[in-house]
Amino acid sequence: MKRLHKLYRAFVLILKKPYLLNKIIDDNDAWQARVQKEYGNGGGLRELRFHDLAGGVEVSVKPFSFLEGGSLPTDLALLRLLAAGFEDCKYFEIGTWRGESVANVAEVAKDCTTLNLPAGEMLEAGLDPAYVEQHAMFSRGLPNVLHLEGNSQTFDYAGLNKKYDLIFIDGDHHFESINQDTQNVFKHLVHDQSIVVWHDYAWQPGNVRYETLAAIMGGVPETFHKNLYAVRNTLCAICHPGDLRSQKPSVVAKKDEAFEIRLKA
Ligand SMILES: C[S@@+](CC[C@H](N)C(=O)[O-])C[C@H]1O[C@@H](n2cnc3c(N)ncnc32)[C@H](O)[C@@H]1O
Repeated sequence: MKRLHKLYRAFVLILKKPYLLNKIIDDNDAWQARVQKEYGNGGGLRELRFHDLAGGVEVSVKPFSFLEGGSLPTDLALLRLLAAGFEDCKYFEIGTWRGESVANVAEVAKDCTTLNLPAGEMLEAGLDPAYVEQHAMFSRGLPNVLHLEGNSQTFDYAGLNKKYDLIFIDGDHHFESINQDTQNVFKHLVHDQSIVVWHDYAWQPGNVRYETLAAIMGGVPETFHKNLYAVRNTLCAICHPGDLRSQKPSVVAKKDEAFEIRLKA
């Protein structure tokens, strides 16, 4: 009887506030069930150890704003490490925001391209002018950063006629957008040694954001599924062509996977 009453209350609430349906559809558990059913990896991707990828190299992260909407220091460090692994790295990024990720990579890569929605389009969509104005604040004026304006879903990637070593997908974080961005990247921008990184694969390191995983699995050509990993201590998933040691996903902290952080304001 209690359950029926609950069901009735839920039904009335949804009738009154239909947007509540999205909360059910977008629920992390629902996405996890979908990923498990379609791909059998409802436990998340196998993990690469950040410490293995870094191989003992010390890396500084700069700039880092410690503000809303940015990446973790380890995410930026990962991008820098990966870029430094290519000679004259060519980097492409979807989602500029303050330009923090591209400014970090620009210190170690030869040429960087970052794509974002045009300011006018963001203002027309009703976004706060103060938010819009902050775009590219760290990357504007850097000599090796090309800023492209456009919608990543419809952008003419073929027109670039170029392949990139490292690609960072960090634009709109809904399923359809990540899925489309991923398909576009694999169709137009990768060569056989390219590394692709997705941000917001996890809510917190180890706590998988299954909507992102569903979009990655759906957007990455099946032949590359074996190259997909999560990177421990970051919010990133990665498609890496190398033959890498990986482990089962786990949220358990390990003492030998800690970091030293020095801050300079
Ligand atoms: C999470 S932020 C990027 C953060 C940045 N990569 C960093 O780590 O510093 C996402 C950005 O994607 C942009 N964006 C959202 N949807 C987009 C789309 N369809 N096409 C291009 N850019 C988009 C937003 O304007 C926002 O600046």
